[in-house]
Amino acid sequence: MSWTKEFVELDKKLHERKSFDCEKEELNNFIQTKAAKHALAGVSRTHVLPGKDPLENGKLPICAFYSLCPNYIERESLPDTIAKKLPRYPIPTILIGQLAVDRNCKGQGLGQITLIKALKLAQAVSDKIGGYAVTVDCLDEDAESFYRQFEFEELQRVNGKMRMFIPMNKIRAIPG
Ligand SMILES: CC(C)(COP(=O)(O)OP(=O)(O)OC[C@H]1O[C@@H](n2cnc3c(N)ncnc32)[C@H](O)[C@@H]1OP(=O)(O)O)[C@@H](O)C(=O)NCCC(=O)NCCS
Repeated sequence: MSWTKEFVELDKKLHERKSFDCEKEELNNFIQTKAAKHALAGVSRTHVLPGKDPLENGKLPICAFYSLCPNYIERESLPDTIAKKLPRYPIPTILIGQLAVDRNCKGQGLGQITLIKALKLAQAVSDKIGGYAVTVDCLDEDAESFYRQFEFEELQRVNGKMRMFIPMNKIRAIPG
């Protein structure tokens, strides 16, 4: 499946959610049934990379997506060397709630492209209103190893998932 150039906000009239399959049920279920509702409720925003070729129903398939929302972490969960430079209250962050690539597009660099788009949007928001880091709650060990190789560091387990973070100043150094 070949993809278009730009990530755009999910629009259920234009984008086919049912055919998306990243081989992780929780993430398939999110894009298929929750992402649009969460956007409507103002909880999070999901950005999709549509495929180039429309399906029979005229909608575009989704090659990859990410969703972001505001969040915070406890100051005490950060390493001491970082925490001591921060105020003594919950630290504002931006959470990558979900990020996934369709099985037909995996292994071609799209996971990295999607992650960098998500990080750069989070940085653009934090440049205007603040935000110390981007965090992610990893679905499983696969996800942990994916984020680890992009310099995310472990914070703590939250509801059984490993929470990882990358400071915004590291994201600023990423070109693009
Ligand atoms: C994880 C996922 C996003 C990777 O997408 P992808 O398009 O296959 O990844 P890319 O081709 O961009 O790979 C980029 C780099 O990450 C590496 N990589 C990919 N998946 C990895 C994994 N699970 N663990 C460690 N490294 C991984 C690749 O080898 C590549 O490294 P290289 O540049 O040194 O060759 C995709 O497999 C996916 O959607 N998985 C299911 C959903 C999920 O787990 N999402 C993340 C947690 S919410």
